[in-house]
Amino acid sequence: MSMKSKRHSLRKGRMMALVNWENNYSVNINKIDEQHKSWINLINYLHEAMKAGKAKEVLGDILDEVMNYTVYHFTSEEKLFEQYNFPNKVEHKKIHDEFVQRFKKIKQEFENGKNILSIELMTELKNWLTNHILNTDKEYSSFLNNKGVN
Ligand code: FEO
Repeated sequence: MSMKSKRHSLRKGRMMALVNWENNYSVNINKIDEQHKSWINLINYLHEAMKAGKAKEVLGDILDEVMNYTVYHFTSEEKLFEQYNFPNKVEHKKIHDEFVQRFKKIKQEFENGKNILSIELMTELKNWLTNHILNTDKEYSSFLNNKGVN
């Protein structure tokens, strides 16, 4: 079954999402807001698959997708930081790197057969993502907006 049809079958039974986009998550940069929405969708997709008791292979594919999208998104932000010489670029990148390391550990444990996909883990991911957007990403909004990025 393709990833697209797997998603479709999961969406048919959609329950309440783990994370809902809220207007105050906006960093006032369209491209980044769209990426954050996609990131939230992927976390919700993982949550639904976990709750539905999907097979290890399916969950592994989704974890890969979350990981790849996370790296893609962080790289997009870091390119903007470099391009406009954002003063907090080093600290922000360090926070990104720490999350990627944490996520790699989650994936490794999963691949080693540990049953790590739990409500606690999903809550950790949700809290990390929303706190990062609200407290760390928002720090660059006015700086980049003032450079004409929006
Ligand atoms: Fe939107 Fe710093 O991640």
